[in-house]
Amino acid sequence: MAEIEIRPMRLDDEEAVRKLVCEEYMVREPLQRNLEMEPVRDGNAWFDMVFPACLKEGLSVVAVDSVFGDVVGFRCVMSVYKDNPQHFNFSKSDPNTRSLALTYEAVFGLYKDLDIFTRYGVDKYVNMTGLCVAQKYGRQGIAVKMVAMALDLSRKQNFRVATVETSSRYSARVFEKLGFEKLVEHPYDTMVLDGESMKMTDDMKYHYCFSLYVKEL
Ligand SMILES: CC(C)(COP(=O)(O)OP(=O)(O)OC[C@H]1O[C@@H](n2cnc3c(N)ncnc32)[C@H](O)[C@@H]1OP(=O)(O)O)[C@@H](O)C(=O)NCCC(=O)NCCS
Repeated sequence: MAEIEIRPMRLDDEEAVRKLVCEEYMVREPLQRNLEMEPVRDGNAWFDMVFPACLKEGLSVVAVDSVFGDVVGFRCVMSVYKDNPQHFNFSKSDPNTRSLALTYEAVFGLYKDLDIFTRYGVDKYVNMTGLCVAQKYGRQGIAVKMVAMALDLSRKQNFRVATVETSSRYSARVFEKLGFEKLVEHPYDTMVLDGESMKMTDDMKYHYCFSLYVKEL
């Protein structure tokens, strides 16, 4: 088993994390696969948008192979404030941004009728967005360790609630192992985005729903 160091994400991780986003995350994450992401184009657009937000409060983490020095996993984490909500706007009518716009339509669909601030009596929370471990390092507990460190960093900064949207059975297990609770579940076979039903790949039938998990810290 590889020797892995889990540490906070830094500005100089940009290139390595961007590469993982384009080569692994956008290729293997089930919702994005089904929305026909173009991995390099959409990976770069997504990363340009979230990376600054994820570095802002130092809550994001990476996994590094201690022998080779390669970044082999990332856990992006952003803060969400009641008085300063984060908005990501991608146009559905622009073919270059349509897949990302539909992804966020699915994300916002999970939060419809749900006010995290009121429900938990907080004025800020952390949202975990983007989790990936390089395939050849999979199933060694790296995702669980990265999320656990991100939760510790969040607690230290006085966050009391963490949310995450999960698109796969595997990532759902990562959060269940850490005590997250499922609040909302949207099965892919009934999901409608921009007036159209989701196309279902075989992979999608296995990873059958998009869910919102929450943990009080
Ligand atoms: C999902 C992902 C982050 C898991 O990373 P990982 O480091 O392999 O996960 P862990 O080793 O910490 O596994 C934790 C648990 O998840 C489940 N799991 C993870 N990968 C699995 C797999 N390939 N098959 C079955 N269960 C799996 C298991 O229950 C595992 O616990 P166990 O090994 O004790 O049984 C990784 O597979 C990945 O990057 N996938 C592509 C991108 C993606 O889908 N990201 C999540 C978007 S919400």
